[in-house]
Amino acid sequence: MALPKNTLWKFDPHTLGKHLVLRSYLNAWFPILGSWKNRILFIDGFAGPGEYEDGEEGSPQIAMRALVDHSAKIGADVGFLFIEKDEERAKHLSEVVERWKAKLPGKSQAAVITGQFDDTMEEVFEDLDEKNKRLASAFVMIDPFGVSGTPMSVVERVLKNRQCEVFVSLMYEAINRFKNSKEFPDHLDELFGCGDWRECVDIEDSEKRRKCFYNLYERQLRAAGAKYVVHFDLYEGRRLIYSIFFATGHELGCDRMKQAIWKITPEGGCEFRGTHTGQLTLGLEPDFDPLKRQLHERFGNGEWYQVEQFETFMKSDATDYHSGQLRKGALVPLEVGGFIEVDPTTRKRKNTYPKGCKLRFKKN
Ligand SMILES: C[S@@+](CC[C@H](N)C(=O)[O-])C[C@H]1O[C@@H](n2cnc3c(N)ncnc32)[C@H](O)[C@@H]1O
Repeated sequence: MALPKNTLWKFDPHTLGKHLVLRSYLNAWFPILGSWKNRILFIDGFAGPGEYEDGEEGSPQIAMRALVDHSAKIGADVGFLFIEKDEERAKHLSEVVERWKAKLPGKSQAAVITGQFDDTMEEVFEDLDEKNKRLASAFVMIDPFGVSGTPMSVVERVLKNRQCEVFVSLMYEAINRFKNSKEFPDHLDELFGCGDWRECVDIEDSEKRRKCFYNLYERQLRAAGAKYVVHFDLYEGRRLIYSIFFATGHELGCDRMKQAIWKITPEGGCEFRGTHTGQLTLGLEPDFDPLKRQLHERFGNGEWYQVEQFETFMKSDATDYHSGQLRKGALVPLEVGGFIEVDPTTRKRKNTYPKGCKLRFKKN
């Protein structure tokens, strides 16, 4: 994929997929976090010019719109920090942001910084260190064209605060294409925060090689402090466009991100695939068989479990499915099919699974 050279460039279907997830997540995230905190941050580390050639909104506008559209439900003030390296793009973005400023509710503010993501974040951290403060609750978007300028050391600083989340587009195609080139090792050392990626480079099987890189990135995010890592791939036909890694300290954030992905109807030949069920095409008519198998693997030892334990599993990153799919997608069909039984003293109505309800897989 050739990198755009102009200030604005044409919007493509790959970008749409990413934007739909972002919009859907922020629509849920701002109201939740806004009810817990007085002030939250949205940092767009590779912000772009704010719009595309034919006027489609870029990520900064999607984020500000999510706040403006939900301001009635959001108690907190949101600080938007948009970082863009290219001077012309940053200038264009400043003009776009200017048009939004009057619409931002309360004490919410937006600022554009012309600079590099890593340098800018280092300055922010130095400033916070001097004041002996931590980064406020933040959603940090890392959406580069390639793999440079996105060091794990910065991600680690962000994730030190359990209230912070990162949403990274990992450009696997670029990693795979340039992995053997001379100038690349430094970038990859920085990106992964270690040199272990070298163990992946020579793996012959392309699928196993990709998994090796992904597993390492996920491991590093967890080592950096993420409690949950949601990962999904965006495909166009059979071609992998990019991978999104979302790292969070919150079960609720993890569950909401999975819901956001499932909500998206594939458009323009693009589709999402989850990682636990490689075949799964998220967003289409759901296939719940992989979920039923996962639940059996996890809970199928013949013991009784409370429905809350199933819910915790569904919210976590152990499955691509989300908690809203537990009952209709799995428990009802499993019970109707005679695979699970429910302790009748723990519920009043058939095919319902209220709090405290106990169930177990039958032995076959
Ligand atoms: C993929 S585009 C961002 C698109 C934008 N997030 C959106 O969804 O509308 C990447 C942007 O990052 C900028 N960029 C490249 N390297 C950067 C760096 N090290 N720090 C900040 N911005 C950078 C590019 O100029 C480009 O505008």
